[in-house]
Order: sequence, then C-alpha cells, then structure tokens
Amino acid sequence: MLATCVIESAQTSAQDLSGLIELAPSILSADFAHLADQVHAAVEGGGSVLHVDVMDGHFVPNITIGPPVVASLRKATEIPLDCHLMIENPDQYIPEFISAGADWISVHQEACVHLYRTLQLIRSHGAQVGVVINPATPVESLSEVLDMVDYVLVMSVNPGFGGQRFIPNSLNKIRKLVQMRTARALNFRVEVDGGVALDTVGEVVRAGAEILVAGNAVFGTGNPKINAQTLLKAAMEATLQKV
Ligand code: DX5
Ligand code: ZN
Repeated sequence: MLATCVIESAQTSAQDLSGLIELAPSILSADFAHLADQVHAAVEGGGSVLHVDVMDGHFVPNITIGPPVVASLRKATEIPLDCHLMIENPDQYIPEFISAGADWISVHQEACVHLYRTLQLIRSHGAQVGVVINPATPVESLSEVLDMVDYVLVMSVNPGFGGQRFIPNSLNKIRKLVQMRTARALNFRVEVDGGVALDTVGEVVRAGAEILVAGNAVFGTGNPKINAQTLLKAAMEATLQKV
C-alpha cells in the first residue's frame, strides 16, 4: 500500500515525497539471465524504484548495460526506473535513455564539464533530475545546482562495483546535504548508493537519507523479496529513532 502511494507521488512531484523512505533495488547484483523475475521479487518485497547502473568502462572500470535493457525493463515493471549514469559524455546518451523509459536520470558531477547544461538537458526531456557525487567530492561542490535537482545521490563506495563496504564519512555528507536543504528551503531528496545493508541502513536513515539503493543486500544471496522486506523494515524502524 505504501509502495503504491510512493509510486503515484513520484510520478507527479518529488516534493511530496520528502521524508519518505524508498528502497531502490540495484539490478547490478541481480541474475541478468532472470532479470524480470528478480525485479518482480524485489518489488513484491517493497522496492519502489528500480536502480539501473549504467557503466561505460571509461568513467568507471566496469561495463554494464545501455538503453535496450532499459527498454526491456520498462515493459517488465511499472515502478520508476532510476538510471545512474556512470559514463563520460552523458549528454550524448541522456535523450536515448529517457526515450527507452528512464524516469529518473542522475549524472556524476565529476563526469560533467558543463553540469548546469547537462541537468537542464535531463529536465528538458521530462525526467527527474539527479546529481551524483563520488566519495572524495565535497557536497559544497553542488552548491550552485542544488535548486535544479530532484535528488542528490551520495556515493558511499567508489562507483563501479557492487558488494563493497560502506564508507562511513558518507554519513557526514548526508547530514550536510540535509542541513543545506533546510537552510535554503529546497526540496531535493537524498539518495545513498553503496554498501547499504542491514548493518548500515539504520545509520544511513538516521543521517537523513530518503532513497536507499541496495544491490548486494537485495540480490546477493537468498530471496530478493525477503531481503527487500527485511531491509525496508530495518529502514522504517530507524526512521522512528530519528532525532
Ligand atoms: C556501484 C553502483 C551501485 C551498486 C551498489 O557503482 O552504483 O548501485 O549496485 O551495490 P551494493 O548495494 O552492493 O553496494
Ligand atoms: Zn548506482
């Protein structure tokens, strides 16, 4: 029920969702030979956004998928597709990803020479606009674009691979972003990506993150539906402990 409300709101306005926790299963750790089944299981477990990692072997040392897989996913699920572009020259591919069915597009601050223009490009094609920062990039570097984005994605591992350990300083970055949002009365949401699992999700939520990407914790071992349910339950419990 909650998942349904969240999905409907996400399609109308990011503003309505501020403070709500959403789980975004990352297909990077899924069994690609059974992708639709894996996605359906994660959605049944409460996943309400599908995180799609796009890597080009240049910006990050790994290669994953492109628009054709996004188009297939679009037919397999109705939840928003959150495309995290870890690629050089994203402007060249953004329209194609959106045509293929991406609802949200995020680009790395580090990959965009003309970040302002790239964010405008995403907006002009009708997708939700996200900006991503690597672990070594300070949140202050986003100061001039925070009013242009629907969400900020904090990388809590080095981008490129699933199953890495959460970098603790990411919590400070989440807290700073929440402070900046409050101080400037903005309404972007904070997404966190990397090492989010049962042992870290509580702190991540208490720091202020609202969209939780989880690959290995959902698809790594066991049943994705149960894994998603368990992780979301832990996240919801942590929201009750937020001070
Ligand atoms: C890493 C990707 C992540 C990855 C996270 O570059 O951006 O989305 O799937 O994987 P876990 O949750 O396993 O750390
Ligand atoms: Zn990602």
